[in-house]
Amino acid sequence: MQIVSTASECRSIIKTWQLAGERVAFVPTMGNLHDGHIKLVTEAQKQAERVVVSIFVNPTQFGPGEDFDSYPRTEAADQAKLAAAGANLVFLPAVSEVYASNAKTTVSVNGLSTVYCGAARPGHFDGVATVVCKLFNIVQPDLALFGRKDFQQLAVIRTMVRDLNIPVDIIGVDTVREASGLAMSSRNGYLSAQEKQTAAQLYQTLCQARDAVLAKQSFPDIDQQALNSLKAAGFVPDYFVICRSDDLAKANSEDTELVILVAARLGKTRLIDNIAFSRS
Ligand code: PAJ
Repeated sequence: MQIVSTASECRSIIKTWQLAGERVAFVPTMGNLHDGHIKLVTEAQKQAERVVVSIFVNPTQFGPGEDFDSYPRTEAADQAKLAAAGANLVFLPAVSEVYASNAKTTVSVNGLSTVYCGAARPGHFDGVATVVCKLFNIVQPDLALFGRKDFQQLAVIRTMVRDLNIPVDIIGVDTVREASGLAMSSRNGYLSAQEKQTAAQLYQTLCQARDAVLAKQSFPDIDQQALNSLKAAGFVPDYFVICRSDDLAKANSEDTELVILVAARLGKTRLIDNIAFSRS
């Protein structure tokens, strides 16, 4: 496994592979890798000869007062996990390698970036879209893999790629969960042991809400029940919304391809999760 920190080293290695006819899959991450990230690497290996992983804690997607400074940086452990998983190249740039100090350009996916998590975290998805666009230009992969855990992020990236004609296939990968149902996340490390137990109720609430949708209960009733049970468990809900899975517009009773998105705070930690399903 090769490890590089400059865009030019990264490009020249990848170019050699692509000239030899090898397909390159890309997994962008912010590090502090867990089994969810590793699943992306394993899926990537099924679809391409070479797998490139970036580890970059992207400052532009953190708001003022968010956890950019304290975000866990665990480079040595991350590299060991990626080597064990069989990744071929790790791109570990400094902020100055990715962003010019006088940068003027931002990628913004209108509409999708300002609802749900985008409403709670202004500018967050512009930071994500901008850095993913830049990383795509550096790596120039054939395909890139993203977790469905960050469902809105995946929708933002799919829309950006479509709108800007970026020649990268985007693959969504199912959420990896703890045995309790809690979606794995780098931010789970902020939870106390007690909070971690409670946190599992986020996914239980989503499963109950999905079952209620399938049982044809009314959406406002389902929303209310879910918010009540989250509050009773000790969460401070940010949003709970039943959406169409393709464009994340609020679903109505005719829609069949659905996703329920939730964000809630538990103590100091903001957790997100979702469940996607079809109904006839
Ligand atoms: P990060 O939170 O490190 O996540 C990197 C990738 O891992 C994302 O595609 C995310 O959806 C996926 N992932 C995280 N937890 C997962 C889980 N439990 N199961 C499956 N996949 C999971 O998301 C980001 O970084 C950044 O916003 C990034 C896209 C790298 C841009 O900076």
